[in-house]
Amino acid sequence: MEPMTFVLFGATGDLAKRKIYPALFNLFLDRKLPSSFSLIGLGRREWSDESFRANVEQSIREFSRRQSNDPSLMKQFVEAFRYHVLDIGRQEDYLDLKHLIEQCEEELHLPQNRLFYLSVGPEHFQPIAMNIQQSGLGSVNGWKRLVIEKPFGHDLQSARALNEKLSQAFTENEIFRIDHYLGKPMVQKLEALQQNNLVIQGIWNNRYIANVQITANETVGVEERAGYYDHVGALRDMFQNHMLQLLMMTAIQLPRESGFDEVRVKKKRVMKALEPLQKQNVTASVIRGQYTAGSMKGQPVAGYVDEPGIMAGTMNDTFIAAKLQIDDYYWRGVPFYIRTGKRLKEKSTRIVIEFKEQFISSPSEKHGRIEPNLLVIEMSPNESITLQLNSKDLSGEGEVKPVHIDIHPAGEELPEAYENLIRDALAGDSTFFAHWDEVELAWAWAQPILEAFEENLVPLRLYEAGTYGPPESDELLSQDGYHWWFDA
Ligand code: BG6
Repeated sequence: MEPMTFVLFGATGDLAKRKIYPALFNLFLDRKLPSSFSLIGLGRREWSDESFRANVEQSIREFSRRQSNDPSLMKQFVEAFRYHVLDIGRQEDYLDLKHLIEQCEEELHLPQNRLFYLSVGPEHFQPIAMNIQQSGLGSVNGWKRLVIEKPFGHDLQSARALNEKLSQAFTENEIFRIDHYLGKPMVQKLEALQQNNLVIQGIWNNRYIANVQITANETVGVEERAGYYDHVGALRDMFQNHMLQLLMMTAIQLPRESGFDEVRVKKKRVMKALEPLQKQNVTASVIRGQYTAGSMKGQPVAGYVDEPGIMAGTMNDTFIAAKLQIDDYYWRGVPFYIRTGKRLKEKSTRIVIEFKEQFISSPSEKHGRIEPNLLVIEMSPNESITLQLNSKDLSGEGEVKPVHIDIHPAGEELPEAYENLIRDALAGDSTFFAHWDEVELAWAWAQPILEAFEENLVPLRLYEAGTYGPPESDELLSQDGYHWWFDA
């Protein structure tokens, strides 16, 4: 990995504290950082290098999945950190920053490789990118990269406008759009599983697969993010990005050794084959929900409309379930059911591949109906991949029962999503980042739903906090003869 400078906007913020510093520290412990490396933290607060380093240390103590018993390692790690005060809108501050970066590059003999990580609100993306360009910070002899995190726009039009501006300062290959779901180890394992196993490739299609279920149920409510969430809802917050990315990662057909270009091409192909919805017909395949007061683990919780900071009379969606169809050779006829929501019964994030039933004349029929085969990729609460097969129970009466094969057993310690993503961004590998084409196609697909919600063409289904969402979400599957797996 080449030596470089990590320029972190929003260095005093929450994301940096909870995710970025711990991720960098774990990469450091695993010797996955460049041998020579400098990090310049930027923020509005007046901090010295020392107080910045002390804050970084503190955040690692609080949020890192691992600690080190050797204090000299921590010292060595934070030595690479410098702090600089910057007002995002002030051009002069960028010239000072440029000066500081050049000074560090010279002192540490670093090539001009600069990664600009924007851990700030999306309204700052455009001004920062412009200032990087205009100050000459982005004119480098080595490489430059821009790392940003969703939301990328509010709808199709604003996403296009934002991208247009960013692309004046950075080329598409230089932009790394984080969707932290793509950094989840199980998503990365799923991709490798398909890619490297002929037995999986052979059954990864509509001949064998009956349906795919993608769930991201959350127990948390709106938390302290009412101002943000009430304007986005589950559709923009989770569905347009994380959920559609999971769909793409499940549906792509990848040959071995596919590089990131191939992954992007294939994901785009999936998105293009996704059957578009018509605004007037959204109700037939999309369920829009909002939680009401209920109980979570025995504790009463408020309904969405009574959460602090939520607008009176809000129709915002805190739950969405949808049935999607990919109209291509591999997936035609296989429904993809996707759901996500807040204040649901338990935190569970998983992809379930349900295989078709065997022919009815199966000899095991005499023992009753057998369960379908399932491949379950679980990201939360545990991280595991399990295959459900049917086997004969010789300890009983010889009946056929489901058995579970752990392909990736739960419990193995895995890196966090941000570790994977930051490592890849440092290495310039964009396989697990969202390409603009995907983002644009995802917005284009979601646009009729956004409009149908805005125009109230889709009924808002209320569900009690602590349940699995509105019953209509179950009907979406039961009308096709299926049910959500693993709802207790
Ligand atoms: C974020 C959303 O992108 O993902 C949050 O903004 C959500 O609302 C979070 O809670 C869920 O992430 P995870 O990794 O906990 O499933």
